[in-house]
Amino acid sequence: MALASGKQANEENELMLTLPKEIGLYGGPYLHLFQDFWCPSFYFQGVINFQKHFLAKDNDVFVASFPKSGTTWLKALTFVIVNHQRFSSFENHPLLSSNPHELVSAPEFILSHDLHDQLLSLSNMTEPRLFSTHIPFSSLPKTITESNCKIIYICRNPFDTFVSAWEFSTKIKSVFSHALTFEEAFEKYCNGISGFGPWWSHMLGYWNESITRPDKVLFLKYEDLKEDTVFHVKRMVEFLGSSVAREEEGTTVIENMINLCSFEKMKNLEVNKSGYMHNVAEKKNFFRKGKVGDWINYFSPSMIEKFSKIIEEKLSGSGLSFKVHS
Ligand code: A3P
Repeated sequence: MALASGKQANEENELMLTLPKEIGLYGGPYLHLFQDFWCPSFYFQGVINFQKHFLAKDNDVFVASFPKSGTTWLKALTFVIVNHQRFSSFENHPLLSSNPHELVSAPEFILSHDLHDQLLSLSNMTEPRLFSTHIPFSSLPKTITESNCKIIYICRNPFDTFVSAWEFSTKIKSVFSHALTFEEAFEKYCNGISGFGPWWSHMLGYWNESITRPDKVLFLKYEDLKEDTVFHVKRMVEFLGSSVAREEEGTTVIENMINLCSFEKMKNLEVNKSGYMHNVAEKKNFFRKGKVGDWINYFSPSMIEKFSKIIEEKLSGSGLSFKVHS
């Protein structure tokens, strides 16, 4: 298949111009309604290239998430499990010298530029390859949904996810964000208008698939992972068929993995304290509070009532629910 030429990129720019658009919290300058999700302009070309050109391998692993749901944590945990044999030392682990986003990339981001070279380096990556994505399940390339590669999805209660997104948006470079007030951003969020949203269809796409194909998609919640990290990391280990599960020292290794990826440990690493990711967001801003229930400090009683109703209505009948901690 011919790779994206300048002409093709122009066609995609023209397509983007025909789509409904909205201002969003970040990923700017706009969100474009594409294939029923709000695609940030920053990712548009990359999403199309990913759909057209990516070739999945059966042993690929994908970390999927709605933004600000715990992607950084899940990337770290999955990286440490998938590479358990390659990097078995916890004193000299790549996660001590690189941010999880530098170790696990999203094809929708990397394929937005230098397509030919990027595809070549993807095909030459050490296997099993580990990637991340924010793309809704229904828009993933067929090569991913139809191959045997595995997907681990993390979601988070929408209250905390919104607050985390809001705080993050106030700290990234202004060219990628918009000066929305908290209330304006909240209204948009209630209407599903945020990068890769609506949040409900994003969650439900992966949720439904995890029920239909439990060997394909492992569905995790940030709150559960916080509450019983060992139990859920063991689920990840089993799901990925990692050798850790069969090792005599398996339990100690899992504890070491969890400690290496803990919020406190990662936040305090020099590598995560300074510098930028992709020249857009400071690495330190991926580690804010790492708590469940911080939303209570932000929402007015009327916002709580409104948002609770929306969550109930959108998730009703799906079997997916969140404990609201306050
Ligand atoms: P808060 O803003 O509520 O603190 P994402 O990684 O999808 O961007 O999500 C960011 C959220 O995950 C932030 O939440 C961040 O603090 C939290 N986080 C990052 N690393 C974490 C870790 N190792 N353990 C738990 N939470 C983590």
